[in-house]
Amino acid sequence: MSFAYRDMIAKGRADGGRAEKFQREAAGEERREPEAAAAGGDVRGLPGATLAELTDFVESRHHWATRRLLAEVEALVAEAMDNSGPLQCGNVAELRRKLEAFAAEIERHLFEEETALFPYFRELDAFAKGKGPRPHLFCGSVRYPISERWKEHEDTGENLAGLRKLVGVYRPSPADPEAICRFIMKFRELEEELEEHVRLENEDLFPMALELEKRLGIG
Ligand SMILES: [Fe+2]
Ligand SMILES: [Fe+2]
Repeated sequence: MSFAYRDMIAKGRADGGRAEKFQREAAGEERREPEAAAAGGDVRGLPGATLAELTDFVESRHHWATRRLLAEVEALVAEAMDNSGPLQCGNVAELRRKLEAFAAEIERHLFEEETALFPYFRELDAFAKGKGPRPHLFCGSVRYPISERWKEHEDTGENLAGLRKLVGVYRPSPADPEAICRFIMKFRELEEELEEHVRLENEDLFPMALELEKRLGIG
């Protein structure tokens, strides 16, 4: 990273230097440290939550937040493209293209969960409480669709790492050096949201559904 570049970011350092730190990490100049404050929706904050309650929490809080942040990040890239000069345009255009593909993939993943997986989780929960019929899945057990979602979560991590590299070489426009800080902070927020969202599903929601299905003798 050039000194001139750092100077440009420093001019817009209303973020306490977090944008610059992010780019150092993305460029491999600094080790990335997890930020404890980012963990917003800790399931440990929902002690005793049932499968249906946890499903509702993931869908209403994390799916909504993911969609909002994707839209905001995409809007900031579009803005950066409008403001960037010819030398930067190629980089920003590539970032925009990859972000659009990433957003489409995430939307497909959320839709699959909301229309196939989560309704089944709620049916399982109702059956366990004696409030609904025995649920049925065409594939016999939820472990098959869950294994597909697990794989997609891994893909999400890899795709985020690819985007992070592109963001790391993203250069500010001299006309609006603060634009890069706005974009980086929003991208960082999206990354943290997705990491927490995936952790919650992988470590809490999906294991809880598999355990309940097993306990009920289904699948
Ligand atoms: Fe999800
Ligand atoms: Fe997911």
